[in-house]
Amino acid sequence: MTPPMLLILPGDGIGPEVMAEVRKVIDWFGTKRDLAFDVREDLVGGAAYDAHGTPLHDDTMALAQSADAVLLGAVGGPRYDNLDFSVKPERGLLRLRKEMDLFANLRPAQCFDALADFSSLKREVVAGLDIMIVRELTSGVYFGEPRGIFEEGGERVGINTQRYTESEIDRVARAAFELARKRGNKVCSMEKANVMESGILWREVVQAVHDADYPDVGLSHMYADAGAMQLCRWPKQFDVIVTDNLFGDLLSDAAAMLTGSLGMLPSASLGAPMENGRPKALYEPVHGSAPDIAGQGKANPCACILSFAMALRYSFDRGSEAERLERAVEKVLSDGLRTGDLLNVEGTTPVTTSDMGDAIVAALDASL
Ligand code: IPM
Ligand code: MG
Repeated sequence: MTPPMLLILPGDGIGPEVMAEVRKVIDWFGTKRDLAFDVREDLVGGAAYDAHGTPLHDDTMALAQSADAVLLGAVGGPRYDNLDFSVKPERGLLRLRKEMDLFANLRPAQCFDALADFSSLKREVVAGLDIMIVRELTSGVYFGEPRGIFEEGGERVGINTQRYTESEIDRVARAAFELARKRGNKVCSMEKANVMESGILWREVVQAVHDADYPDVGLSHMYADAGAMQLCRWPKQFDVIVTDNLFGDLLSDAAAMLTGSLGMLPSASLGAPMENGRPKALYEPVHGSAPDIAGQGKANPCACILSFAMALRYSFDRGSEAERLERAVEKVLSDGLRTGDLLNVEGTTPVTTSDMGDAIVAALDASL
């Protein structure tokens, strides 16, 4: 059997250094668990712009379309701030999401016990937290037309359009209900139906999908602003949250911080099944390119490594190997190893990005 093709796009900033640690983990699964991948590597974001004058070369896009899964590091950095909007590093990532039609973005916010004290919230509010934000990723105000900066009545006006079709809401709602059935069986849908028509439609369609096909799953609706407040007040009330592209962007960053560090959170962006039955998929850490700490060995590779764990689970149907990897990460944290993003407290050992990767591989070895 030919091994599945995994396309690695390290990108910018800390992307390459955290991805180097993921490579160690991928190699480990290849040699120790008979889970070999045909690993290809290519450029995205600023790195692609430097090489080709575009944040995503057409050849890379084609490779991503044919990959069994894509693993991305991070894009962007201050060097690219003044580039024309159409070639900014972020456009490379948005093109991948759009052209692969990765409509369901899964952003788990799990609080590892060893890190509960790093959250800005009280330990009892976050300890044991395990929620899943399902963010719609290919529509809404990120892509709606018209968009642009126009002249109107002698001044400029900036326009973006929030737009959702019923089918776009329907498919992401289904993704959320399916996930909920495998977890706590509860979905909370968030929009602004009090001020936005797109929110009214969102609420109606989510409710209709529920009533028709998922009546066994608990469903509640919340305005997204109230949802933000509840996420900070008592996040453990949630199991799966489903929301649109922009609200999901904001709410997932807030949820991420509940867990202590953005350096811990993975994500999966899934589309429709391909011919081989696997969903189109891109995995990436929620953190960005963190240019301020890039190249210093300070970055936390856990989010990117946990993104590979999500790939094992959602693309390669190896849930038990995904758990093995998640437990290895948990083990090194409970042993007190900490990269620079996690404040040092007594009893913990500061380590570099590369030490952290090695320790996770050692914990994997110990798991056999
Ligand atoms: C994210 C990021 C992206 C987004 C940026 C880098 C385009 O913030 O994945 O959450 O806004 O979707
Ligand atoms: Mg974001």
